[in-house]
Amino acid sequence: MRKKTVKDVDVKGKRVLVREDFNVPQDKNGEITDDTRIREALPTIRYLLENRAKVILCSHLGRPDGKVVESMRMSPVAARLGKLLGMPVKMSRDCVGPDVEKAASELKEGEVLLLENLRFHPEEEENDPKFARELASLADIYVADAFGTAHRAHASTVGVARYLPAVAGFLMQKEIEALSKALESPERPFAAVVGGAKVKDKTALLENIVGKVDVLLIGGGMVAAFLSIKNDKRARKEDETSGSVRRIMEQTRRRGIKLMLPVDVVAAKDANSPDTAKEVPADQVPDGWIIADIGPKTVQLYASELKNCKTMVWNGPMGIFEVPRFSAGTRGIAEAVARLKATTIIGGGSTAEAVEDFGLADKMTHVSTGGGASLMFLEGKELPGVAVLQDK
Ligand code: 3PG
Repeated sequence: MRKKTVKDVDVKGKRVLVREDFNVPQDKNGEITDDTRIREALPTIRYLLENRAKVILCSHLGRPDGKVVESMRMSPVAARLGKLLGMPVKMSRDCVGPDVEKAASELKEGEVLLLENLRFHPEEEENDPKFARELASLADIYVADAFGTAHRAHASTVGVARYLPAVAGFLMQKEIEALSKALESPERPFAAVVGGAKVKDKTALLENIVGKVDVLLIGGGMVAAFLSIKNDKRARKEDETSGSVRRIMEQTRRRGIKLMLPVDVVAAKDANSPDTAKEVPADQVPDGWIIADIGPKTVQLYASELKNCKTMVWNGPMGIFEVPRFSAGTRGIAEAVARLKATTIIGGGSTAEAVEDFGLADKMTHVSTGGGASLMFLEGKELPGVAVLQDK
């Protein structure tokens, strides 16, 4: 990686502000239901503790919109982190202000302080320079380990780097290296499986990835758009979506990339009517019905194509996997990917959620902790929270 990491700075005795992505899901009682992001933050925190730093952690949790929301306090995270680290984690009631300054200045080597939710202040998302400076004033060094928030240009992900030496943590490094290796020097054949709800959310990703892969397999909500372009030879009214799908299809043809579309699908009257679901050939979806999943023949076809690949990136579920009747396609692909003897990279957000739900996350080479961030990375754009870090 081109960027400096915690290993490139001397942290002993220094106050180190670490931006984490502790935005973890909770149930209605505030119980954390998935602590992956906290566990993934441990290597950097442990390294800092072992190297006698004074560790100040900060994160957002949820979207409180610039005000204090009791259910979005960081205390459940402090408790879980303390348990995982096997040591007390101090908490401050805010993330800036005199009490926090006092707590940060009194911190001893090998101690951890977790600041209150950054987004309780509107200045965080506004990337307000005064707020960024206040945060920076708590520390001597800034470590960015919140890959999942690196696509946001906020005070704690971008602004603060103007005032402190800014380096990457180990999670940030691991994410960037895994994703860049797949995109820049993949072992071939290289396949991308792209799904998700809407084409417009994936157009930039498809346009970037089409220049890099050997095989492109399409699933999810955009299947309909691809099939209608493929099957309809007559002139049709162009809109933004059909224009970009047509462009992507043309590029695959021009570059000799194998584009695979479903041969069968699970169709339903609408997303809320799983009882109407039926498997039909891909070109026989009843008028007005939706494509809720890829069908079993397609799963087999995609699985056997993937078997030949040495690198695979997957972004976006194959159907509405949260609904059991529409989950078989996503599960089938997840199982096929888990069996591959290849480098398998799973985008964050709902794709990561799906492989975790199926209990297959540990069978993958890399499961990203960032949904929006991994999407932006796969679109070929530089993440603002990475751009601000010091080059080696
Ligand atoms: C995420 O969960 O994707 C990150 O924590 C970013 O959260 P946000 O979408 O609310 O900025």
